[in-house]
Amino acid sequence: MLELIVAQNAAQGSRMVADMLEETLTNNPRALLGLATGGTVVDLYALLCQDYAAGRVDFGQARTVNVDEYVGLPASHDQSFAWFMRQHLFAKTNIAQENVYLFNGAEDPQQEIARMADFLGAHTIDILLLGVGTNGHIGFNEPDRTFIGPPHIVELAEETIQANMRFFQRREDVPRRALTLGIGDVVKAKKVILMAFGPQKAEAIARLFGDDLIDPQLPCSVLKLVPEAYVVVDQALAAAAGLAQ
Ligand code: GLP
Repeated sequence: MLELIVAQNAAQGSRMVADMLEETLTNNPRALLGLATGGTVVDLYALLCQDYAAGRVDFGQARTVNVDEYVGLPASHDQSFAWFMRQHLFAKTNIAQENVYLFNGAEDPQQEIARMADFLGAHTIDILLLGVGTNGHIGFNEPDRTFIGPPHIVELAEETIQANMRFFQRREDVPRRALTLGIGDVVKAKKVILMAFGPQKAEAIARLFGDDLIDPQLPCSVLKLVPEAYVVVDQALAAAAGLAQ
C-alpha cells in the first residue's frame, strides 16, 4: 500500500524518515538498508549521524546497499556516489565496511551488475530509501517504454549529462553511463520510503497520486506494487501538487 505523509517542511520530513530507519534497526539490528544519494537525503544522513553520536542508534550490525553509481568513477572520485556515502554517513557512524555493498564504478560494468544481481538474489532489502527525479525517475531508472527488472547499465540522457557538467572540470569527464538497481529490485523491498521536497518535484508526485496506473513513463509509480510504501513530502510540495492535507 502506498501512503502519502505530508511533513511541515524538509527538516521535519527528514526527522520522520530517520525515525523510521532507526525503528527498523531497533527491531532488526542486522537489517539491510537500501540507500540513495542526492541533495534530498543529506539532512536525513546528518540526523542519523547525530543520533549515532548521541547513542540513540547503533549501526554495528546494519548492512547497506546503494541504489546507483556512475560508470567510470572510482570510489576515490569526489563525484562518485561511494564518496558521497562515505562523506555523509559511513565515516561518521559505526557501519562496518564489510557490511557495505556498493556498485564499483571503476570495475567492468557487466561484472558489477551481475555481482549486484547475485547479492540481491541472496538478500532482501528491509527498508529502501529513495529520492526522485523531477521526471519521476528512481535510482537511474528513467522514464521509458518498459521497465527493466534487474540491476542494469543505463546510458545517461543528454539532459542528465548537461545537468551534471557543473560538477566536473571538463565535459569529457562527465560520466555517460550509470549502474542502477532495476524496478524488480525496488518492488522486492519489504518497505520503501521515497522522499521528495520542494515544488520542483510536485508534478511527479501529483502524477503518482493522480491515478492507479503503474506506468514506465513514471518510474516511481512502481511504488504502488510495494507491500508497504511511503512518500514523504513537505507542505510546499503538497500544496503545489494539490495534495495539501
Ligand atoms: C539522481 C540519482 C537518484 C536521486 C535523484 C534525486 O538522479 N540517480 O538516485 O534520487 O538524483 O536527487 P536530488 O535528491 O538531488 O534531487
